[in-house]
Amino acid sequence: MKAFIVYCHPSENSFTSHVRDSFIKGIVDSGNEYILSDLYKMDFKSDMTEQEYLRDANYRNTSDVAADVLAEHEKINSADAIVFIYPVFWTEAPAKLVGWFDRVWSYGFAYGENRTMKVLDKALFLVTAGNTMERLVNFGLLDSMKKVMIGDRLFGRAKESEFVVFPGMSRGLDSREQNFEKNLAAAYEKGKNLF
Ligand SMILES: Cc1cc2nc3c(=O)[nH]c(=O)nc-3n(C[C@H](O)[C@H](O)[C@H](O)COP(=O)(O)O)c2cc1C
Repeated sequence: MKAFIVYCHPSENSFTSHVRDSFIKGIVDSGNEYILSDLYKMDFKSDMTEQEYLRDANYRNTSDVAADVLAEHEKINSADAIVFIYPVFWTEAPAKLVGWFDRVWSYGFAYGENRTMKVLDKALFLVTAGNTMERLVNFGLLDSMKKVMIGDRLFGRAKESEFVVFPGMSRGLDSREQNFEKNLAAAYEKGKNLF
């Protein structure tokens, strides 16, 4: 089985990069395969062009889809599961990942009649957050993030989904150091038990 990992963090000097590595180790140890899109490393272009906007907004299933978008489509359709690993930025994914959805979830592929995107077996979100779980829950922030990702972006595109948050991971918080290794062990287990 194959996982397609969409990873988005601007720095290797981050907890999130360790989550990626632990998760990948789990996948490999379970005897499964993965492919990775590291959006910052690829310098993935997150802004839609006007042509892309007009194509998608007017439901035109034309063949002029950009090569970098087509490459992401191929990765998705070659995988059994999709996994998003990113930090929360302003109660969202980093803008580059939001832009990835704008462009890659294109008309005719992710939506519209006769769309060509496969229905994946599983989607998993591994999300690092600075806020405590208490704050994320009490202000409805966790619920908002889940609704946007699972209820909108993912809607019907995976048979099963899971949204995992590693809270309290801001630099300077005791909880970052206290939970660092425990969280990485959890990320490893998610990789090991994905399939
Ligand atoms: C621009 C920016 C915005 C952020 N916004 C949020 C936020 O809205 N909610 C939150 O819980 N954490 C927020 N954070 C904290 C990050 O999620 C946190 O830095 C990260 O999860 C810690 O892991 P890292 O070492 O991988 O960056 C923000 C961080 C940055 C840099």
